[in-house]
Amino acid sequence: MSKLNKQYICQICGTLHSKWSGKCENCNEWNSLLEENVSKPSGPLSKSSGHKIKFEYLKNDTLEYPRLKTNFNEIDRVMGGGFVSGSVTLIGGDPGIGKSTLLLQLVGNLSKMNEQCIYVSGEESLSQIKMRADRLGIKDSNIQFASVTNASDIATTIGSIKTRSVLIIDSIQTMYLPQIDSSPGTVTQVRACAHELIIAAKKSNSILVLIGHVTKDGSIAGPRVLEHMVDTVLYFEGDNNFQYRVLRSMKNRFGPTNEIGVFEMLNVGLKEIMNPSKLFLSDRQKNVSGSAIFAGLEGTRPILIEVQALVMPSSLASPRRTIVGWDTARLSMISAVLESRCKIHLSNMDIFLNIAGGIKIFEPAADLAVAAAIISSVKDVPISFSTVFFGEVGLSGEIRKVNQAELRIKEATKLGFDNIILPSKQKVIIEKNMNYNNLTLLSDLVDLITKNI
Ligand SMILES: Nc1ncnc2c1ncn2[C@@H]1O[C@H](COP(=O)(O)OP(=O)(O)OP(=O)(O)O)[C@@H](O)[C@H]1O
Ligand SMILES: [Mg+2]
Ligand SMILES: [Zn+2]
Repeated sequence: MSKLNKQYICQICGTLHSKWSGKCENCNEWNSLLEENVSKPSGPLSKSSGHKIKFEYLKNDTLEYPRLKTNFNEIDRVMGGGFVSGSVTLIGGDPGIGKSTLLLQLVGNLSKMNEQCIYVSGEESLSQIKMRADRLGIKDSNIQFASVTNASDIATTIGSIKTRSVLIIDSIQTMYLPQIDSSPGTVTQVRACAHELIIAAKKSNSILVLIGHVTKDGSIAGPRVLEHMVDTVLYFEGDNNFQYRVLRSMKNRFGPTNEIGVFEMLNVGLKEIMNPSKLFLSDRQKNVSGSAIFAGLEGTRPILIEVQALVMPSSLASPRRTIVGWDTARLSMISAVLESRCKIHLSNMDIFLNIAGGIKIFEPAADLAVAAAIISSVKDVPISFSTVFFGEVGLSGEIRKVNQAELRIKEATKLGFDNIILPSKQKVIIEKNMNYNNLTLLSDLVDLITKNI
């Protein structure tokens, strides 16, 4: 027996509150509490309800998970070598970024390999899906489709499947359990639906992929608990004005995180990009100040990215700091260090910083390239076309070592760069025909750029 209880749940962090308040005490989000009916078990749990469990030894071979390769190298790499049977993946992304397209192509590939695939959409009608499948050239495949939103029906259906299948739920926010008295997309519904579906999918050791919406601050809508319930969390990101899309792993119980896969959105669907550096550098202009190339690393893959800066006198009391693709706090730090340690005056300047190609970077190793782009713009001195940068900047203006320098240098060499600006403490294998500039302090970088490297 259960009785209904009115409670308020934070739609961001999932914390329960007994009273409504304007701000969640746990995550400090404003206006995030919503009234939901939560059923609570009444009375103490019966003492005899538990069953005896059986322990296993880890050396047992039957405990190993086979991986399912998808024929999409980019997806397989992001997943850490393919999808693990019995695993649950949550994939989030902005509206219209291409989530449904990606997963439809994925099951299209898998069904060609005779995998049983099921695609349930709560967002689109079958004729809409058919139109997309037509465009992607997979209309004739053996994927089974349904357009339903009742998670209880879906769970019953997939619970009765005997063989391993690939199940796509598009999207978890549209699903609802009729037993629960809250509307679809609320924390209670999202959590309960995910729970039902996960249990049903595990019965046949199937691979479950849940599509999730993203809130305006970029996290997957619904509580963080959803991220704890799944094995892998992926984000599909990009700028709608650009054709590239990046699939990024944020959590992976079966592989490395921060691995990326790069795609191009074409009218026939998503195409994998095997060499993203080439693509990101393709629109580069010669002899322009304010551009520096960062030898970056995304997961295990090196990638070259152009950092662009434009610095100009400001007419505002608090000058503008406009940043696309990088961290605001880090830019403030770099400009403070440039101001105090290198006498580059930025406090009355507007700074615009852009990571070209619509990609986002998170590595502190990009500090040196960002600083270089800013110095180059302030001094109006272009940086030579064949120079790349990597290194972290510390508060005393020191340049610090980064990881995987060799991989970064190798990628730069492969793409024809021959001048590497790197931290002085960094130990690397010196390659022939390459020029290395080891820097100790950020002020060395200012000297180097003004001397026209
Ligand atoms: N006829 C078309 N030709 C070319 N590209 C198209 C066409 N229709 C849609 N697209 C591309 O597909 C994108 C939409 O992809 P998709 O529906 O997979 O996104 P989604 O992330 O699932 O969106 P939602 O959040 O609405 O479910 C569009 O932004 C557009 O770039
Ligand atoms: Mg969609
Ligand atoms: Zn909260």
